[in-house]
Amino acid sequence: MKRPVACIAGTGRGIPAHVMTNYDFAAIGIETSHEWIVERSGIHERHIAKSETACSLGSEAARQAMQRAGVDAGQIDVIVVSTATPDRLLPATAVDIQAELGASRAAAFDISAACSGWLYALTVAEGMMASGVGETFLVIAAEKMSAITDWTDRSTCVLFGDGAGAVVLKRSQGKHASQGILSAYMRSDGTLADLLYRPNGGATTPFSAEVLADRSHYVKMSGREVFKHAVRSMADACDRALDGAKMTGADIDLLIPHQANIRIIEATAKHASIPMDKVYVNVDRYGNTSSASIPIALDEVIESGRVHEGSRILMVAFGAGFTWASMVVRL
Ligand code: ACO
Repeated sequence: MKRPVACIAGTGRGIPAHVMTNYDFAAIGIETSHEWIVERSGIHERHIAKSETACSLGSEAARQAMQRAGVDAGQIDVIVVSTATPDRLLPATAVDIQAELGASRAAAFDISAACSGWLYALTVAEGMMASGVGETFLVIAAEKMSAITDWTDRSTCVLFGDGAGAVVLKRSQGKHASQGILSAYMRSDGTLADLLYRPNGGATTPFSAEVLADRSHYVKMSGREVFKHAVRSMADACDRALDGAKMTGADIDLLIPHQANIRIIEATAKHASIPMDKVYVNVDRYGNTSSASIPIALDEVIESGRVHEGSRILMVAFGAGFTWASMVVRL
């Protein structure tokens, strides 16, 4: 097990005010039912951004994380933002957040790795800290999935929600020397990209009247295929992170899986031999908030006292790309 370089000094979340329940789909003409959605995904409701943006949600999460870590914006060296739904395609949402926070001496950039993006971002930030780039990092995931969701496609629109989560990352030193990232694992398989993607609207096929008409700028997903790969990859990623930390499932105090679907979560926990009472689930209240799902969950479990200093947490994610990632952290 490696000596931790970076530890989590504070967490926060930014959640849109508006709640959309499964019953609200009838009002927008979607033929579905609360029972179908709960049975297939475990989702009861999700938060949908109305006036909020990826920047405003991410900034709110960051402010809370900075307050809990006892740092102010002027102390932030680097801001890394994971998002699949940047407010604008250029520049990065991270610089909007940098400006919003007044983090005047911070470098800022986005990472695009879909639902796995926040674990990728944490790993990148830790590596930058190890190489001496900075001492205080904001690692944020900010997602407005509702903006890229096809609200006429019942097979996808019932699954997603909006939100943001953030942590302040500081060096594991002094009385925090044993706290931090104990292992990290990341993988990808771009040969499967077309199973979950936005076909058009990028630089190859720029946004146009045709793209708008055929709705090909929205998320398309082969649900069953994604499900199969998600279960397999998240199970393997749990093994890799546990191996890296020289631990087994029995050593873990809490598993925080990406919150896409309760059935994927249950299968992942079973594979890692972690009982469901040691698995955090909030997909029922948020739906799939892409890369924001793990940091939102982390903030909730710390706030509620379910975990505390010294707790060992396994986090695991899977998303478009495909990408997948896992990490063991000691709080
Ligand atoms: N309400 C009612 N019926 C629906 C709905 C809906 N919202 N959506 C689809 N159906 C119907 C389909 O039309 C189909 O009907 P048919 O049999 O008459 O053709 C039937 O339900 C079954 O559809 P499937 O897509 O085969 O349903 P499945 O059991 O696979 O469940 C689901 C669909 C929930 C999307 C599942 O495949 C899944 O969870 N996949 C994982 C995808 C995921 O989580 N993606 C998130 C992004 S990636 C990530 O974050 C991991």
